[in-house]
Amino acid sequence: MSLVGGQSGVFFEAIKNFLGPIYPLLLDDKITEVLINGPNDIFVEIGGKLQRSSAKFETDDDLMAAVNAIAQSVGRRINDDEPRLDARLPDGSRVHVVIPPCARNGATVAIRKFFKKKITFKQYIQWKAITQDAANFLEICMFLGKNVLVSGGTGSGKTTLLGLLCSRIPKGQRVIVIEDASELTIEYEHVVRFETRMADEQGHGEVSMQDLLKSSLRLRPDRIIVGEVRGAEGFELIQAMNTGHKGCLGTIHSNSPADALVRLEALAMGGDNKISEKALQYSIASAIDIVIQISRLSDGSRRITHISEIRGLDAEYNYMVTPIYELKSLVRAPDGTMRGDIEPLGELPSFIDEIEDNKIPFPRSKFFSKKAS
Ligand SMILES: Nc1ncnc2c1ncn2[C@@H]1O[C@H](COP(=O)(O)OP(=O)(O)O)[C@@H](O)[C@H]1O
Ligand SMILES: [Mg+2]
Repeated sequence: MSLVGGQSGVFFEAIKNFLGPIYPLLLDDKITEVLINGPNDIFVEIGGKLQRSSAKFETDDDLMAAVNAIAQSVGRRINDDEPRLDARLPDGSRVHVVIPPCARNGATVAIRKFFKKKITFKQYIQWKAITQDAANFLEICMFLGKNVLVSGGTGSGKTTLLGLLCSRIPKGQRVIVIEDASELTIEYEHVVRFETRMADEQGHGEVSMQDLLKSSLRLRPDRIIVGEVRGAEGFELIQAMNTGHKGCLGTIHSNSPADALVRLEALAMGGDNKISEKALQYSIASAIDIVIQISRLSDGSRRITHISEIRGLDAEYNYMVTPIYELKSLVRAPDGTMRGDIEPLGELPSFIDEIEDNKIPFPRSKFFSKKAS
């Protein structure tokens, strides 16, 4: 009956009387997100799709009681002075709240549930999120210590894919993971995990991603994993990648591999570092080896749409982004699901020699489409 093992069941049970109509939604395993737009307007996400729930709070006060109970349960408060709350619940779920008068619909809440469910590459292939060959190629990238950026929109599956990639880090390394809120499921022997801390009410004590990245570099990392690059820490990550830390990974919010690099550039520029634009572009182009693009499709499924190699800058300082695998065509089946596989485009990765020197059984033919031959 509990959501993710015993813990969250117990947690929600304790404030059950305040949660009212959303209590069953929080315990329902099929529901991945609960979105409240005022007392009478509640939506849930099931199977990647949003739908209206029949659950309603009777009054604004009842909804506020639920919001207050959630805030208090994590030792925080929400009121006129602080009308916004961003918190992580003990079970790993994320909650964000905005209350009136800023929220015009009434208290507005998003609860993104956390599933500790282990996802394997095998399942990923069954879900058609990737093909076997492309999955093997990603494993090779992990084995060879390529620096990889996972790019996608909100809820597209970036963190899930990052966890999968981590599971393919060769044995015997020291992995340091830095996140805003600890959510990455990572199966690995030697892992050090860091989580940022927000400033207190007086504005003291903030520990940012950038701070933690600086510390990580002094803690003998073999691999640095940044949950989501969303600020000036982008700069340190690029520096880390360029100073001999092979196999660093991170996710970034972006709609295409090329955009991901431009976004990384903008984030890295946002800090107080003094680097020229061109030098930064050069650093990014040499730091990042592979960008994996993932998307949430209209049928609610998540798929990898591009695995692209970054091959430096051209004469005009544009990133040279070469797709190795790409989802070229998608068709909607009569049942509404989207069909189509990511395909090789006939481009050998620049590190093909490394693959062959390591005697990895992945012949060159895997980079050529069967359809074309
Ligand atoms: N390939 C996939 N197919 C179906 N569901 C997926 C897939 N990858 C992730 N999910 C689910 O999608 C939701 C969002 O995934 P998450 O990795 O947290 O996305 P992001 O980090 O991009 O916001 C989770 O509930 C996750 O279990
Ligand atoms: Mg994420």
